[in-house]
Order: sequence, then structure tokens, then C-alpha cells
Amino acid sequence: METIHTISWMQQIAQDARVKERILGLVPTMGALHEGHFSLVREALRHCSPVVVSLFVNPKQFGPSEDFQKYPRTLEADRAALEKLGVGYLFAPSHEEMYPPDFRTAVFVEGLGDRLEGRSRPSHFRGVTTVVLKLFEIVQPRRAFFGRKDAQQVRLIRQMASDLNLVAEIVICPIVREPDGLALSSRNAYLKEAERLAATALYRSLDAARRAIETGERDRLRILAALRRVIDSEPLVALDYAEIVDADTWEPAMALRRPCYLVLAARVGTTRLIDNALIEPQGDTLRVSL
Ligand code: PAJ
Repeated sequence: METIHTISWMQQIAQDARVKERILGLVPTMGALHEGHFSLVREALRHCSPVVVSLFVNPKQFGPSEDFQKYPRTLEADRAALEKLGVGYLFAPSHEEMYPPDFRTAVFVEGLGDRLEGRSRPSHFRGVTTVVLKLFEIVQPRRAFFGRKDAQQVRLIRQMASDLNLVAEIVICPIVREPDGLALSSRNAYLKEAERLAATALYRSLDAARRAIETGERDRLRILAALRRVIDSEPLVALDYAEIVDADTWEPAMALRRPCYLVLAARVGTTRLIDNALIEPQGDTLRVSL
């Protein structure tokens, strides 16, 4: 595996892949890699060659009071794991390389970017779409792989790709969870022992909502109440938001007749975690995927 630090060298490799008509796959990450990231990498390796994994802790997507400074950085372990998986290129640019002092441009997806996660974290999605477009321009992927774990992020990236006629196909991969249901996240490393146990409340609350739906509940507020009961019974967990949104418009879904996401964000101690379930009509019933 080759590690690339400069944009110009990455562009040369991308150009070479394009000339040779190879299907270049990109997996954008912020590092501190875990099985969630690896599942994206494996999917990319199945469908693409070469595969580029980018690793850049993007300051523009962290708010002023967020965890940019303490975000886990484990470059050597990440590099070794990607090498073992058979990845061709690790693109790990420096901050100065990505954002020189005169950098001025931002990409913002109107409407979709300012609700739920975007309301709790103003400027977060602006930072995400800006860096993802920049990575796409540098790496020129035919396919790019993202996790459903960050469902609103993928929705925005899809919108950007469509609006700006990007050639990259956006591939969405399922959520990878710990055996007890907690969705894998680089931020799980912040959790103290008691918090780690309490953090399963996010999964348990989604599971309670799933059971309510599976036993016939169709009322959005009653489904959300079932979810809230689980969160409220866990003193270490404080709900930031929970909502059922239309998978397309990201507006609250008044009827569950189209694909929807049940999305939530919660604080466990000082650590903010997100999770979601996908709700899809299937004949007369609803399928809920956690
Ligand atoms: P990061 O949090 O490192 O996540 C990189 C990718 O891994 C994202 O597409 C995310 O959805 C996916 N991922 C994380 N945990 C997962 C899990 N448990 N199961 C499945 N996929 C999972 O998301 C970002 O970085 C950044 O916003 C980025 C897109 C790289 C832009 O900076």
C-alpha cells in the first residue's frame, strides 16, 4: 500500500487510473478506523480497483466547542489495518495541503443541511460537503462508499452529487454494530465503562420503536414515545433529538408510506452519539432495519 500526502501526487494516480479505464473506488474517513470503516473498504475492494482510502480529520466539520483537538488519531494502526485488507492507496493529506491560508470556498446543500443534525451542529454539513467535493475532485472516484450510520450525511452527499453532476456513484453500506447493538463509532473510544454500558440505550430505543412498528403501531408520535421511554430510563443518556423523517425530503414523516429513517442523537456523558433505523414499506407491512 502506498501512502500519499500531497494532492498533486494523488491527482496523478487518479489520472492514471482514469486513462487505464480502471474503476477507482474511494472510501472517505477521518481515521481511528474500526469495523464500520472496514466494511466500507471491503465493499469497495469487491467492486473497485484501485481502492483509495482517504484519512483526514476535517476541521471544517467540527464546531468551535466540539472535539476536533481530542478526536482520536491512530495513523499507524490505521495504515497497518488497511495494508492487511489489501488497499492500494491511503490518501492522508495535511491540513495545510487541504486548506491553504487563502482557502475561501464552501459547499452547502440548501434545506437538507440545516435540520436535525444540521440544527444541532451548525456548519457541520457545510464542512462535510466541502471536504467531500474536494476529495472527489482530487481522487476522481467512479464509486464512493459511505455508511448508513450517518444517514443524513449520505442524503446530503447524494443531493450534492446529483445537483453538481458528479460522476461518482454513491454507494451506501449497512450499519456495523457491536454484539450488544451499539453502532461502531470512532467516538465510542471516549466512553467510560459505565457510559459504554449506558450507550446501548440508543440501540435499545430503536429496537423498542421497531417492536412497536412490528406490532402494528403506525402513529409517528407514539413510535417516538416508545423510543423515548428507553432513553429516559437511562440516567447517563440525554436525548438531543429523535424524529422519523422521509428518506427523501428529510421532513417529519406523517405517514410511513414511503421509506423513512428513524434518526436520533444523544449525549452519553459528554460524548455525542447518533444512530438510526431504516423503515421501508414492504407489501402491507413495514420492514425496520437497524
Ligand atoms: P468517519 O466518521 O470517519 O466515517 C467514515 C465513513 O464510515 C462514513 O461514511 C461513515 O458513515 C462510515 N461509518 C462509520 N461508522 C460506521 C458503522 N458503524 N457502520 C457503517 N459505516 C460506518 O463520516 C465521516 O468520517 C466524515 O464526515 C467524512 C465523510 C470522511 C468527511 O470528512
